[in-house]
Order: sequence, then structure tokens, then C-alpha cells
Amino acid sequence: MISAVIFDLDGVIVSTDNYHYQAWKKIADEENIYFDEEVNNRLRGVSRSDSLEIILERSERKYTEFEKTRLTEAKNTYYIKLLESLTAEAILPNVKEVLIKLKTNKIKIAIGSSSKNAKLILKQIGLIDLFDAISDGNDIKRSKPHPEVFLIAAKRLGIEPTKCAVIEDASAGIEAAKKARMYAIGIGAAKNSKLCDLSVDNIAEIIEIVKK
Ligand code: BG6
Ligand code: MG
Repeated sequence: MISAVIFDLDGVIVSTDNYHYQAWKKIADEENIYFDEEVNNRLRGVSRSDSLEIILERSERKYTEFEKTRLTEAKNTYYIKLLESLTAEAILPNVKEVLIKLKTNKIKIAIGSSSKNAKLILKQIGLIDLFDAISDGNDIKRSKPHPEVFLIAAKRLGIEPTKCAVIEDASAGIEAAKKARMYAIGIGAAKNSKLCDLSVDNIAEIIEIVKK
């Protein structure tokens, strides 16, 4: 029996995964480092600093810690600039209806996101008050695939991890959900992740699954 659903944010609730891509692409181009959608898919769910390490794998030179800090700060500045134009229109299809339906069915809902910008985004798209709990990049020491962000969400909800389902577009997030002993649902880029308990094409499919 599923009592709660923990949602990833970027790429599941809202299309900000595209903004992350654009901001990193700008950094990679400035540094003359190869970057494409395939590299970008590996950044899904992982922290800002871990994302930079993945991008720098393609670099021909080593970066100092000082340079790395400068690059993560520059990326976040570009990202925040892109967020200025974010509105409720960026909420992905069927998401709002699903959240409301889950609540009507007495299923708790939470956010489990690696992003330190999660609350800013939720406020901007007008969904912040809908969630029973929020666990984000500011709460954790280790980002996905570590399960910490989901375990904190479950704790804040007061629900056993084994009674939680997670919906994720990141392979790292699916891995984190399984490490937390939760039911892992993959969508988008995480659909083919081997660890998924289930994959969906449309988020609306989760209603029937959690009602079982
Ligand atoms: C995740 C994204 O939600 O948040 C990652 O999928 C991102 O791509 C991570 O790196 C951290 O985000 P932020 O907003 O703290 O830089
Ligand atoms: Mg995501």
C-alpha cells in the first residue's frame, strides 16, 4: 500500500531541466568543453558541484577548486536569470491534476529534489502550498543517488519509506529511491533505468498505481 508519493522537481513537475541544460551548455561552450544531451542526462538529479565534475570529464585540462567554484557560481547565475521568466505555464502536462487527485485520495505528496532552488521554483509556479513536505538540496549532505533527500521527505511526512513511491526523471534518482527502499517510478529520461519498479509515459498513470 502506497501512502505517499515523493516527486522529483526538475523534469518531473516543471520543465526547468531545460534551463539547467541551457545554463550548463553556456558554461561548457565558454570553456570549450564538449556537451550534449547525453552528458546532460547524467547531470539529472545530481548536485551542482557533482554536475560540474561530470562536465569536466571532457576537459583537456585540470581545474583548480577556485575555478570550479567560479564555474558553479556562474552556472547558477545563468540559471537564476532563466528562472526569472518561469511561470505556471512551465508546469508539465497533467501534473497539477495528479497532485490534486492524490490529495483527494488521502495520499500525501512531497518534493524530493537535489536543487537548492526548489522552493524558489515552487513559489514561482504557484505550487508551494500544495505539498505536505519539501526536502531539497539545502537539507542534504549527499545528493542522489544517495537516498538522503527521500528519507528526509518520508520523515517529514511521517510515513515509512516502504510505503512511499518516488517519481523521477533521473537514473540517479531511481537508484536513490531503491536505496531508500521506496517504490521507484521512472518517467522521461529515467524510463529505461534498470532499477525502475515501473516506467510511465504519462504522469497521470500513477493515480491507478498508487490506488492499488
Ligand atoms: C536537480 C537537477 O534537480 O538539481 C540537477 O536535476 C541539478 O540537474 C540539481 O544539478 C541541483 O540544482 P541547483 O538548482 O541547486 O543547482
Ligand atoms: Mg529531475
